[in-house]
Amino acid sequence: MSRVVVTGRIPETALEKLRAEHEVDAWEGPESIGREELLRRVAGADAVVSLLTERIDAELLDAAGPQLKVVANVAVGYDNIDVPACTERGVVATNTPGVLTEATADIALGLILSVTRRLGEGERLIRSGQAWKWGMFFLLGSSLQGKTLGVVGMGGIGQATARRAKAFGMEIVYQSRREIDPVLADEPGARRVELDELLATSDIVSLHCPYGPATHHLIGAEQLAAMKSSAYLINTARGPIVDEAALASALRDGQIAGAGLDVFENEPSVHPGLVELENVVLVPHLGSATVETRTAMAMLAADNTLAVLSDEQPPAPIN
Ligand code: GLV
Repeated sequence: MSRVVVTGRIPETALEKLRAEHEVDAWEGPESIGREELLRRVAGADAVVSLLTERIDAELLDAAGPQLKVVANVAVGYDNIDVPACTERGVVATNTPGVLTEATADIALGLILSVTRRLGEGERLIRSGQAWKWGMFFLLGSSLQGKTLGVVGMGGIGQATARRAKAFGMEIVYQSRREIDPVLADEPGARRVELDELLATSDIVSLHCPYGPATHHLIGAEQLAAMKSSAYLINTARGPIVDEAALASALRDGQIAGAGLDVFENEPSVHPGLVELENVVLVPHLGSATVETRTAMAMLAADNTLAVLSDEQPPAPIN
């Protein structure tokens, strides 16, 4: 029996799966586990099942000790994990790709619809109790039919977002550093371009790339200035891909038309310049937040953990 530390609340079915084979120490507090408590609990652990709110760095790996075999992140993004530090210590790091693709693409479309059709503004208006009346020019938004979606990062979530956008009659351009599934790339309306062209031609720019040094502030003042003044920016990937202060200025000055954000540069803080604007839809990192998806993510993290603890290849290794 190995010792598995779970850094936050995860669905019971995944805990049961882990408990069937190992001793599980799961943080059950309503708040995130504090750093001190986390460092104390991981001591002697063979496996750490981590949430994206916890930083898994050299300090934590050393606090765990040399017996640690696996860090299983319950997320597809793993910018919270120092992967080289894991590799140096012979620790396998894993994530949860695939299972949250559709849910995250749903949120991207939700944000696209919310911001282009001004749903947040309409909601706030009604709840404010202010008088309103149907009018020919009342809260007009912008249609999706015939517009161009620019997908930055054409991995699974980018492709799933593109598929949905096509159903809304949109043309697709995309930028990707990877070789792409040729079936998708060959589809009419999905054209691979450089980022400059994507920014200049898209009516909606949706970010789906991973976060790391190569994508830090990928979208800053210069890139926002390169976008059409009628364009919208959607971010369901990671906050620091966008320079949030530059975005707030661009939105305030009408340099772009609007933004839909599920992730923030200094989560859970949101730049005060964004909160006061009407032309931005803000949601609190809900990309994978469905019962089905969170259960599937936790089950995959459990499978990753159990495989490594049995000296088998995990389904979703990072290193
Ligand atoms: C959520 O943000 C994830 O990376 O899974």
